[in-house]
Amino acid sequence: MKKLLIVYVILSAVASAGSILSAKSKEIYKDPKAPVEKRVKDLLSRMTLEEKIWQITQGVYGGYDNPNNILGVNRNTVPYIGSVICHATSAQMTNLLQKKAVDSTRLGIPILVGMDIIHGNRTVYPIPLAQGASFNPNLAYQASRVAARESYDVGIHWTFSPMIDITHDPRWGRVMEAYGEDPYVNARFCEAAVKGYQGENLSDEGSIAACLKHYVGYGESEGGRDYFPTDISNQMLWDTYFPPYEAGVKAGAATVMSSFNTLNGIPATCNPYTLQEVLRGKWGFEGFVVSDWEAVMQIVLQGCAADKKEAGEKAINSGLDMDMADFVYVDFLKELIEEGKVSEKTVDEAVSRVLTLKFRLGLFENPYRPETSEADFLKPEYRAVAEQMAAESAVLLKNEAVLPLKKDAKVAVIGPIAEDQKCVMGNWRGLGEFADVITLLDGMKAEFPNLTYSKGCEIEGNDKSGFADAVAVAQASDVVVLCLGEGFLYTGENCSRGSISLPGVQEELFAELVKTGKPVVVLIESGRPLDLTRIAPGATALMDIWCPGVNGGPAVASLLSGRRNPSGKLPVTFPYTLKQIPVYYNHRDRSRRGNMGIYNDGTPLEPLFDFGYGLSYSKFEYSDIQADGLHASVKVTNTSAIDGEETVLWFIKDMACSIARPVKELKYFEKRLIKAGQTEVFEFEMDKLRDLGFVDSRGDRFFEPGQFIIFTGDKQKTIEVK
Ligand code: GLC
Repeated sequence: MKKLLIVYVILSAVASAGSILSAKSKEIYKDPKAPVEKRVKDLLSRMTLEEKIWQITQGVYGGYDNPNNILGVNRNTVPYIGSVICHATSAQMTNLLQKKAVDSTRLGIPILVGMDIIHGNRTVYPIPLAQGASFNPNLAYQASRVAARESYDVGIHWTFSPMIDITHDPRWGRVMEAYGEDPYVNARFCEAAVKGYQGENLSDEGSIAACLKHYVGYGESEGGRDYFPTDISNQMLWDTYFPPYEAGVKAGAATVMSSFNTLNGIPATCNPYTLQEVLRGKWGFEGFVVSDWEAVMQIVLQGCAADKKEAGEKAINSGLDMDMADFVYVDFLKELIEEGKVSEKTVDEAVSRVLTLKFRLGLFENPYRPETSEADFLKPEYRAVAEQMAAESAVLLKNEAVLPLKKDAKVAVIGPIAEDQKCVMGNWRGLGEFADVITLLDGMKAEFPNLTYSKGCEIEGNDKSGFADAVAVAQASDVVVLCLGEGFLYTGENCSRGSISLPGVQEELFAELVKTGKPVVVLIESGRPLDLTRIAPGATALMDIWCPGVNGGPAVASLLSGRRNPSGKLPVTFPYTLKQIPVYYNHRDRSRRGNMGIYNDGTPLEPLFDFGYGLSYSKFEYSDIQADGLHASVKVTNTSAIDGEETVLWFIKDMACSIARPVKELKYFEKRLIKAGQTEVFEFEMDKLRDLGFVDSRGDRFFEPGQFIIFTGDKQKTIEVK
């Protein structure tokens, strides 16, 4: 019996050793057929603590051209680092990096390569603020597909986009990076960008991971000063700032980036409420959160940590999975774990989220990309998408029967933006090269055979010596097209400005040209709403073309000639003057009316141009608004002889709610072509809770029966909903 027992014990010992060996030898993480969670679990079990900590660290590899990111003491990228930011110019460059990671490290974990592909990589299309003006999320989807392809091809796996930070302060330079002031518009474009970047599957050719940023409330940096604190009530967070992020999470965004600002005193980089209670608890987000650039160590500067070690402890324990660019996790996490201040389980959760994305991207099977060449970029079909977006995002703000111009008109093109190839790109231009830009002047030369040009003045500076030539050219023409705008990097990160007026002597040049008595068509290149109060009245026509990207020239020229019909509408309010801000459409009402609550120095309460404003060459007449229960409709007739696209915006107002509601809330929009003389019926199928309900300060959506007004065009209808 005893012998039998001994034999049994030996046999079972051999068997279990065999199973351990087989498990050890059977590297499940390398099996593409194994479920991702099994691969993650297996790989995690093989990692040392040091390897885990490097896996949730992001460094910088190769050139990086964002001057605002002070390249601190960034160590050389070690091959077992989890991720790098890389201004990748070719697959050859990133393949070198991946080869080091896959071949020279113990576990061969590929590196996740991230980059700011905000509005195109080499094919730079209009800035997100302009895209919002198109009210065409499907076009934004197409543009994001192009951006993803040109990024995938150079070995970028992850873009830090879409940015969906609502702001009510045009002094803030990053107003260019989101889709305007409205939560609903930002949510729709966010979904389009996430789906455009990520495609059907993250492992598909041409797909890259998206990143919702900057979570959250960054756009309300006090005084429009970047990096400053923000104080936002929970009510405003839930009804204004959270919705685009919730939409992005529901659209399947793979990652989120926390923001630089303290939010109500707690840095967003280590904010358990936003990072855990809301993002994971309320919305069920399963991806990972990356900090912004060196934001973990900036917790010390924000006065919320005594030193970087404490900053690291707070960040990882608040749910901040990956540390960007300051190596705080590398320097302190091991110690924090040994001191029991951070559990290895917390680190394992963060590592698992990063590894999950790498498996979902297929990086273990396809760490390399085919070598790239110039032919892979700026393909005609890519430029075509960029041009269409530039055309659809331009907003015609005024037209006193001067546009479209006649083909044979004698056109004087004047102004410092006419030949510009830098400002029109906008900030965050990825691999965009200035020489790629077809200028406004070149675009117009191709459209108008009878054209003369004079620069008139620079964007900045006080030199008026070019005025005389510009005036002479204007006097010899039938019409002036005056190209004015902001300077290079006037918007973007760390680009806050105390003034939103046109710089230099551009306004004076405009005034001199108006004196000639010739019609003056003003084109405004801008990354933010500008103060146009000294331009709009004297301009014969006025069009904001934003930063239109590589094909802005042909796009704008086609609008001026009528080959295309303007269809953009403002996604952001244009203030009458900075003295008014904050001024935005979906504000709550005051407690008094009439001359109570006005500025007593004559500064108007109303903005210069409203959210949703934009003209067309067509004339659209709204009629017969109907509302039957939760179904509303309106007829829109194109009474002109020109086919045109109209975006019908549907707003609601809750007349009485336990929480004061904005005077108007955009709940749906639809853009459609209406042929000359035709009538189209536009419908809005309301969902009671989604469209007429509201959220409270805990984020719980509720509906209260009562009276609502539905607005669209110049029509409105009051409905009673039980
Ligand atoms: C920057 C920006 C962020 C960007 C990151 C990486 O500081 O705030 O938008 O994605 O660093 O470049």
